Amino acid sequence: MSIVKHSDKTLFLGIDLGTSQTAIMANNGNKELIRSVVGYPKDIIGVRLLNDTKVVGDEAVEKRSYMNLHYPLEDGVLKESGERDTQAAKELLEYAISRVAPGDRGRVCGIIGVPARASVTNKSQLLKIADELMDLSMVVSEPFMVAYGLNCLTNTIIIDIGAGTIDICAMKGTVPAPDDQVTLLKAGNHIDDILTSAIAESYPEVQITPLVAKKIKEQYGFVGKPAADVVVNLRSGGRPKAFDVTEELRFACETILPDILENVEQLITVFDPEDQEDALQHIILAGGGGQIVGLRQALLDFLQDHGDVNIIRVEDPDYAGAAGALKLATELPPDYWTQVGDVIGS
Ligand SMILES: Nc1ncnc2c1ncn2[C@@H]1O[C@H](COP(=O)(O)OP(=O)(O)O)[C@@H](O)[C@H]1O
Ligand SMILES: [Mg+2]
Repeated sequence: MSIVKHSDKTLFLGIDLGTSQTAIMANNGNKELIRSVVGYPKDIIGVRLLNDTKVVGDEAVEKRSYMNLHYPLEDGVLKESGERDTQAAKELLEYAISRVAPGDRGRVCGIIGVPARASVTNKSQLLKIADELMDLSMVVSEPFMVAYGLNCLTNTIIIDIGAGTIDICAMKGTVPAPDDQVTLLKAGNHIDDILTSAIAESYPEVQITPLVAKKIKEQYGFVGKPAADVVVNLRSGGRPKAFDVTEELRFACETILPDILENVEQLITVFDPEDQEDALQHIILAGGGGQIVGLRQALLDFLQDHGDVNIIRVEDPDYAGAAGALKLATELPPDYWTQVGDVIGS
């Protein structure tokens, strides 16, 4: 594909709208990670304290005692339950764009990644929001963006382990068809919930929340054999005390394994037999959860009787999707966007 030169005025954006965080990259060199949450003050006192009627990202969580928090992307797709959620989604997107492109923007063309199997209504709802914020926007499947960013568009399997979903996708040189991808709903958040209850069961005196569990997982998460015992300080009776959570952590992290293994094995068969060897050489682990220690090895062990297998982890899981989207946005002439994804604008 030839690289087209656009007028210097056009601002191109690559956006990965994730359940837990939204990554955005612009062709002006700016990039930003924003927690996918919007807070609205609970009452007039909150408005005074905040000095505003809304706040996006980490600050919303910090001020949660006087905020109603909205996570607009439940399970990786737009919540469709209420007006507030749609508004929150728009405010999140608007905030993200303003972070990388403050001030005068000229023409804005953006590509937004959504989970592989997001519903049609969901995509069109997102496009409607995007249309209010950008001149031209396209929605494409997230694993496709990751693959595009890595130049791996054929004979590649992408495993993207996020907070709300795990998306597994077979890349066959075209935009993935429904049968080429699968979305699993037990992902990072599920591990946090399981770890929370496992610790509560082993140590009833400990005060544990999913937020604390998530931190433990992000620091020490592993499957298989532990490199060392995982001993963490938790609060019990209002005091910090050391607890060994090695087994609980392993158990929680391993809950996502069977589904991943089963679906990867199944997706190998959607490639033509003569391509399967090549596809097994190009398995890509993406998403925050792809960093769980031992995961790569567990996959390799499981697939060992399939022949030579090669699994790589994306270098920067936070930005891999957004970087691919930006690359696509700047390389593909906007006239062709309709052939790749759902487009709105002109
Ligand atoms: N080092 C790590 N080990 C294990 N899990 C991690 C790590 N870093 C982030 N995560 C988890 O990855 C998930 C977020 O991944 P991400 O790809 O950003 O998700 P999403 O696209 O759904 O927003 C969260 O569940 C987070 O706790
Ligand atoms: Mg993601």
